[in-house]
Amino acid sequence: MIKVRVPATSANMGPGFDCMGIALEIFNTVEVQIIPQGLIIENHGRDTDLISADQNNLIYRTMETVFEQVGYCPTGLKITSYNEIPVARGLGSSAASVAAGLMLANALTGEKLGQDKIIELGTGIEGHPDNIVPALIGGMTLSYAQDTAEIGYIKVDFPEKLRMLMMVPDFMLPTAKARGVLPQQVELGNAVFNVSRAALMVAALTAGKLEHLKYAVQDKLHQPYREELIPGMKEIFTQAYDAGARGVFLSGAGSTLIAMVDSDNYSFLPKLRTFLEQRSLNWELRFVGVSRQGAARIA
Ligand code: HSE
Repeated sequence: MIKVRVPATSANMGPGFDCMGIALEIFNTVEVQIIPQGLIIENHGRDTDLISADQNNLIYRTMETVFEQVGYCPTGLKITSYNEIPVARGLGSSAASVAAGLMLANALTGEKLGQDKIIELGTGIEGHPDNIVPALIGGMTLSYAQDTAEIGYIKVDFPEKLRMLMMVPDFMLPTAKARGVLPQQVELGNAVFNVSRAALMVAALTAGKLEHLKYAVQDKLHQPYREELIPGMKEIFTQAYDAGARGVFLSGAGSTLIAMVDSDNYSFLPKLRTFLEQRSLNWELRFVGVSRQGAARIA
C-alpha cells in the first residue's frame, strides 16, 4: 500500500492570478493498493457526496495519465481517500486530487517521473500552475509557464508571524462558473495595476514590510468580477481590515475569503464571527498555518 498526504492551497492571493499560490495546513490523505481486478474507490471525511467513486474520479484519472506516460497497466486498483479539504470552495481540492494521483501513480511505477515532469503533467491537467505547484512543493510559490509545457517556479518566504484566517461560506462556487464571469480583454491600466501589486506582494513579504500588504492584495483582474458571486464579500473585507487584517483576498476562484492576520491579533476571529452572525452568514472560520511541505509519501 502506498499513501500520500496533500495540502490544501489558496491561489491568486489577490493580484497573482493563475501564478501565485500557497499551501495550507489542511490535508487530504490518499492511499492506493493494487488489487486483482476492477476499481474500488472509497471516499471518507468532508464533502464525500461531491466526489466521484467511479472512473470519473480525478485521482484515478490522474493516475491513468501517469500510467500512460510510463506504459503501465495495473490489474486493478483500490483508492481510499480521507478528506479534510472542502470541495469547490477555492481551497485547491482538485489540485490536491491531481497531486495525490501523480504521486501515487509515480510511486507505484517505480518513481520514473522526476518532479519537473510531475509539475508539468499536473499543470496540464489543472490548466494553470497556481494551485498544483504549492500542492506539490509546499509553502508560497510563484509559478510561470514557459513557451513549452515546462513550468518554472520559485518559493517565496512567507513571514512566520502571519496566520491565515479562512472564511469558508456555506455555498460552493465551481471554478468554471467563477472563470466564466471574467472578461477576455484587459485594459492596459488594469494590467499595470496588477503587475505593480503582484510585484509588491513578493517584495513586501520577503522584506517583512507587512504594512504594504493591504495594497499588495489589491486586484483588478478577477476579484471585482467575482464579487457578485459572493454575497457580503465587500463588507467582510471592510470588517476584516477594521479588525486589523494585514491583507484580505478571495481564495482561488472562491468562495472562501482569506485574511492574513498578525499571530498576536487575538480579537480578530471573535470580531469577524460576531459580524457574520449579525448578518446571519453561516460561514466557517478557522485559522490555518502555511504548510511548508507539499504532497509527501507517508507510507
Ligand atoms: N487561478 C484560478 C482562478 C484558481 O482564479 O480561476 C482556481 O482554479
